[in-house]
Amino acid sequence: MNNSTQQFLQDTGVTVPVICGPMYPGSNPELIAAVSEAGGLGIVQPVTLTYLYGLDFREGLRQIKALTDKPFGVNFTIFGGGGKKYYEQMKTWMEISIEEDVKFFLTSLGKPNAIVKRAKEHGIKVYHDVPNKKVALQMRDAGVDGLNCINWRGGGQTGIQSAEQFIDELQDLGLPLICAGGIGNTTDFNHALDLGYAGVQMGTRFLATKECQITDSYKQAIVDATEEDIIWTNKIAGNNSSVIKTPEVMKGGHRIGPILSYFLKQRRTKKYVRMYLMYNGLKRFKRTTFEDAYKYWQAGKGVGNINSIESAGDVVREFQKAFEIRNTM
Ligand SMILES: Cc1cc2nc3c(=O)[nH]c(=O)nc-3n(C[C@H](O)[C@H](O)[C@H](O)COP(=O)(O)O)c2cc1C
Repeated sequence: MNNSTQQFLQDTGVTVPVICGPMYPGSNPELIAAVSEAGGLGIVQPVTLTYLYGLDFREGLRQIKALTDKPFGVNFTIFGGGGKKYYEQMKTWMEISIEEDVKFFLTSLGKPNAIVKRAKEHGIKVYHDVPNKKVALQMRDAGVDGLNCINWRGGGQTGIQSAEQFIDELQDLGLPLICAGGIGNTTDFNHALDLGYAGVQMGTRFLATKECQITDSYKQAIVDATEEDIIWTNKIAGNNSSVIKTPEVMKGGHRIGPILSYFLKQRRTKKYVRMYLMYNGLKRFKRTTFEDAYKYWQAGKGVGNINSIESAGDVVREFQKAFEIRNTM
């Protein structure tokens, strides 16, 4: 086992370096608990917990804790476009997470400095999503404990770099690197560890599990899809999001029109365009979660290696087995 994997296992208290990434939709308490209970690390997506599944945030955390006493994490998206109200809400979620003894934060976007400072006071580890080297260096200077490298094969909002490029550029930073994107099976997992990653973060694989509360048609679409069925749309968040090519996605084209495109490029209006798109996205994915016939499905290129709907615990145990085998070699 390489040193960075050891560091990650120590930082998180898990037995296999597998994270179930935060997902809107997808991160329901039962899934998070099942991943953690089996030895991986489930991550809470606060907006999913509260807005999508209608839970009080603290109650949601307690539901997970009632199902497992193993560690899990919470994700904080530091979205400037959300305004002061969102920032205050995020701070409240963070304080509740501290009170509920969460020991791992995964931050995305923005500057996590205040979160890192508060986390350190409580012995909480912070990993941050990074799209490139420039952001990775800023995050190292902000004092984060690890970097989640968002590559171009991932589901949801995707990166533009390859898993290999991240390793080339970041392996000397001395921080654990997590491969986020395109991991569908244990072969992909072993490949990521061979490259030098400390571990992997998966979303799409965990959508196709029994515990995940999305529609059956969404799960089956992941099993049926091939890599070539995954396309990028910028209609969800302004930047690229990976989705399965369906009539719903293609309706009116999968790229935003020229007017929104223009305002998305302007420094002063960009934030408002993204807010508008994301607000629509929140509503759209609420439908995706509950309406079997609504086919607006985010998924990454790992779909090619996902061939069945399993229990999340079985998925983690399969990865655990592969991890143990490689450690005996
Ligand atoms: C349906 C879906 C929703 C997602 N929502 C979020 C989110 O709300 N916040 C976030 O940080 N990442 C989100 N992600 C990204 C995942 O946390 C993870 O990094 C990604 O799924 C890894 O790539 P993979 O899908 O190829 O495994 C989402 C991914 C998917 C598939």
